[in-house]
Amino acid sequence: MQINGTWYRTIWLADDGRSVDVIDQRALPHSFEIMRLATVEQAAAAIRDMVVRGAPLIGATAAYGVCLALLRDPLHGSLDRALELLAATRPTAVNLRWALEVMDEAVRYLAPDERVAAAYRRAARICDEDVEISRRIGEHGLEVLRGMSRAKGGGPLNVLTHCNAGWLATVDWGTALAPVYMAHDAGIDVHVWVDETRPRNQGASLTAYELGAHGVPHTVIVDNAGGHLMQHGMVDVCIVGTDRTTATGDVANKIGTYLKALAAHDNGVPFYVALPRTTIDWTARDGLAEIPIERRDPAEVKLIRGLGPDGRIVDVELTPPSSPAANFAFDVTPARLVTGLITDRGVCSASLEGLLGLFPEWAGEVGGGEGRR
Ligand code: MRU
Repeated sequence: MQINGTWYRTIWLADDGRSVDVIDQRALPHSFEIMRLATVEQAAAAIRDMVVRGAPLIGATAAYGVCLALLRDPLHGSLDRALELLAATRPTAVNLRWALEVMDEAVRYLAPDERVAAAYRRAARICDEDVEISRRIGEHGLEVLRGMSRAKGGGPLNVLTHCNAGWLATVDWGTALAPVYMAHDAGIDVHVWVDETRPRNQGASLTAYELGAHGVPHTVIVDNAGGHLMQHGMVDVCIVGTDRTTATGDVANKIGTYLKALAAHDNGVPFYVALPRTTIDWTARDGLAEIPIERRDPAEVKLIRGLGPDGRIVDVELTPPSSPAANFAFDVTPARLVTGLITDRGVCSASLEGLLGLFPEWAGEVGGGEGRR
């Protein structure tokens, strides 16, 4: 993605060849800041504090976190501690678990003096593969949007999205937004309704920033506006990302996604979920029972972040100081409310049959619905 004429990924190896640079997403859209991660503790904190966020980028950052731990100490104890520390940062995005398993497999059985180089190579590959996977999601999603635009026969195609599943949530391109970028670039008249996405406002801050930088027409709406817009024919399609999709097509995504899917269902609006293969949890069958839902600091609900009158980023108090708040970060949309899954291998129904049709090599790995988390 280009920002002011410079091509960026969201994570890259720093010029010292060891540390990792990331875009500090807490400062966007007001300020473009780069943070350097030099230790595994800093990588873990960056994930936990949402300097980086979005399921694929969480996985990529964790992969580099393992590299940083091995750089300091390549022995097994260090590897185990790093895996444990990073795994505990955010529980819902399964890409985290996936990336840690991949890194573990890549280095565990090597001699200690071979581990660091192998880890950096594997982490770089995770990033490159994520870009390619997102690009393919974009191509498959583009065909969905093209078909809808033709069927509509004129006027902008109105896409509603929730949270940020754009390039900032991945290494580049994004998942839900990749088809939008490609549609826009292909000359399709596309307009995006951007849910603000309380409490952290990833829509208002990040999705709006990305779409603006790419020149895609968009409008920020409050989270509760989507139902009204759908009732009045102002949304042609919803596309969202996901942090974990079960083998049966249940989808965990940012809190509020489920309500959008309900409204879409009630109004006959297609509801698509875009995801890389790394977001599928083949061990889980029942999203409600088996996907752990992260609960974050209630302060994120009680405060709202923005640009103060003196040009500094400030947190402003929103609630009576004594009112308790609860911060559920994700919800689960059952497969029956999902029109289709846009994956890097194509579009399928949100079902075990649909997913196995595209990913037959996973048939032997599908969990038995034993409620494992
Ligand atoms: O809490 P966040 O900002 O990490 O949540 C991100 C989302 O919910 C995204 O929709 C999801 O990770 C998909 S990212 C391509």
